[in-house]
Amino acid sequence: MTTTFQTHAGRVAVVTGAGRGIGQAVALGLGERGATVVAVDLQHPQETIEHLTAAGRTAIGLTADVSDPEQTAAVGTEIERRLGRADILVNNAGIFPFRDIDELDYETWRRVLAVNLDSQFLMVKAVLPNMKPSGWGRIVNLTSNSIVTAAPGLSHYMASKMGNIGFSRGLANDLAPYGITVNAVGPTLTITPGVLQAHPPEALAAAAQAQAIKRNGLPADLVGTIAFLTSDDAAFITGQTVMADGGYAR
Ligand SMILES: NC(=O)c1ccc[n+]([C@@H]2O[C@H](COP(=O)([O-])OP(=O)(O)OC[C@H]3O[C@@H](n4cnc5c(N)ncnc54)[C@H](O)[C@@H]3O)[C@@H](O)[C@H]2O)c1
Repeated sequence: MTTTFQTHAGRVAVVTGAGRGIGQAVALGLGERGATVVAVDLQHPQETIEHLTAAGRTAIGLTADVSDPEQTAAVGTEIERRLGRADILVNNAGIFPFRDIDELDYETWRRVLAVNLDSQFLMVKAVLPNMKPSGWGRIVNLTSNSIVTAAPGLSHYMASKMGNIGFSRGLANDLAPYGITVNAVGPTLTITPGVLQAHPPEALAAAAQAQAIKRNGLPADLVGTIAFLTSDDAAFITGQTVMADGGYAR
């Protein structure tokens, strides 16, 4: 997917989990639209940075566990030091280990809530000081259409992804006076490295059949929705959840 529209020129976009999958596609898509990109991941997102710099973009790769308060604070400090501003935050990093309730231990519950939900709070706290002063900002928090599916083994994940919607809704109220919108975006089952590790082929086929558009999602399918919600054009849309899920119905 390519675009010549520079809707994000002059913007600094911070994307978590940008080393692969949906986060990488979003980082590249926002860069393609003109943004300077800060790509954050557990390991240095080398491939993402190489793609962006090859396309002539300014791109910074930062290594951080976004569930960790000290590491996210350090991300905020580094953005302040190197760029002095942040306009867009896409909280994408997430994990989805399948565990039936009998197998779900407290450690896994805590880890999923920390990586999927605490991280969004921590990254907002880290980035806001560099977003508020300009009077313009866009935050997108990844949720999931799994919250309305009948998939077993995901109670912890669904709790975190419902939390992403509640956090977005409440944060939208707090940040509207600063010109900052906050929305949640929910993919359907999307073919990413994480999904290919966790899901058998039958699960992928079943998910596609449950959608109006009968193919699995691809990372590129999220780019347009997130690009729009982080653009000037979406200034009056906040506190919403957009399911970019091929028309999943249940
Ligand atoms: N792929 C899907 O089917 C699907 C469906 C609905 C929602 N989502 C959501 O989309 C997001 C991305 O999913 P994906 O399929 O691209 O995942 P993925 O596993 O392919 O990639 C996730 C990236 O996040 C990074 N990451 C994980 N934990 C991190 C941490 N603690 N700190 C920093 N980075 C971390 C990983 O290193 C990886 O690069 C997640 O929030 C997920 O819940 C995905």
